[in-house]
Amino acid sequence: MALRKRGSRKGEGERLPRAQSRGSRTMAGRDVVSIFDLSNAEIEDLFALADEMSQHSRGRSDLCSDKILASLFYEPSTRTRFSFEAAMLRLGGGIISCADVQASSVAKGETLADTVRILESYADILIVRHPLEGSARVAADYCSVPVVNAGDGAHEHPTQTLLDLYTIRREKERIEGVNVALVGDLKHGRTAHSLAYGLARFGGKITCVAPKGLEMPPEMLERLERDFDVRSESYNSLADFVSEPDRLAAQVDEPVLSVEVLRFIDVIYVTRVQKERFNSQQEFEAAKGSYAITTVLLRHARPDTLVMHPLPRVDELAYEVDADPRAAYFRQAAYGLPVRMALLAAVLGKHRTKARSVEGLIKRPADVDLTSAGVRCQNSHCVTTAETYLRARFVPVADRPNRACCYYCGQEMTVHVPRD
Ligand code: CP
Repeated sequence: MALRKRGSRKGEGERLPRAQSRGSRTMAGRDVVSIFDLSNAEIEDLFALADEMSQHSRGRSDLCSDKILASLFYEPSTRTRFSFEAAMLRLGGGIISCADVQASSVAKGETLADTVRILESYADILIVRHPLEGSARVAADYCSVPVVNAGDGAHEHPTQTLLDLYTIRREKERIEGVNVALVGDLKHGRTAHSLAYGLARFGGKITCVAPKGLEMPPEMLERLERDFDVRSESYNSLADFVSEPDRLAAQVDEPVLSVEVLRFIDVIYVTRVQKERFNSQQEFEAAKGSYAITTVLLRHARPDTLVMHPLPRVDELAYEVDADPRAAYFRQAAYGLPVRMALLAAVLGKHRTKARSVEGLIKRPADVDLTSAGVRCQNSHCVTTAETYLRARFVPVADRPNRACCYYCGQEMTVHVPRD
């Protein structure tokens, strides 16, 4: 039987997150669209469950033998899709999947809202990946079974963050105080976006290293500072062997993460240039190949500095690094299985948690419908650009008149929102 999300009414598309009522101590029926859909206590509870699951990740239980998972991937994936499907199979459940959505009725123009309303009749949980930002929110709003965001454009990838945090906790035995250098395309990298928030919530430190033009969005840096009191250091390049005196002598203008700073880094989290998110091939060509983690660079890092990568890699992480015991990225990908087993068990109501739900941690303000005012989201990658039946919904930014975020993609923009 499908697990109904609390308070949901099928197909209305206007629902607030379910299973998040005050004092709720269950993750059953929960949508995981954002890393903010789970409280810190719930994440820690999932990690404890993942520790248990990792002992059984080669076996098969019957914990979810009455459940079916549907994977709906509008974009390619190796790790996320296969690990979710393997997780469900290891839990004894079934999977329905489509290797290519263009072989489904999406090719005939079926909307996202209609597609998920069909799949809810067949499956107990939907795992959704989509190129447009805010698409997972749409899927969750229109679907009565839990939806897990497997990556929505450049926006968020919350389950990647769960396994990234789990990796840091397993390998460094803590997250608090760990200094993570997020390296790469921080403008488009959804894994880096979700991880920055996850680290901030667990007391991690953030150092950003991104080529010019690919820096972390300024509104994200503002939010990290405003909501979590996290001020990140920012650099534009990672100097392989440049010391601070060398840099000054060479009169390099842009901020370079020097070897002196590198010694304070506990985790180098590198991401590829996200080719598929660029507006033009020219822009991508200008950015590609501008940074790389090499064995030369790692000679200057501490012996206990971890190298992580959400993968896939292109040219930003040399194959020679694989032999270094500090290279944690294949272990990181492997942790995805027990972490996703834990999440599935919890969301499918097979795990009783003592952890408090998000209520009290996150207060999502009410949104305002500005459709009749002719306002549309200005983000050209927002799901509202393609799924045109969606209303123009905006959430006012506290203390900032005429600033609001799109309800779906979260992008902040200048828009007049009437306030009470
Ligand atoms: N890390 C990650 O999301 O990998 P896939 O794109 O292969 O799922």
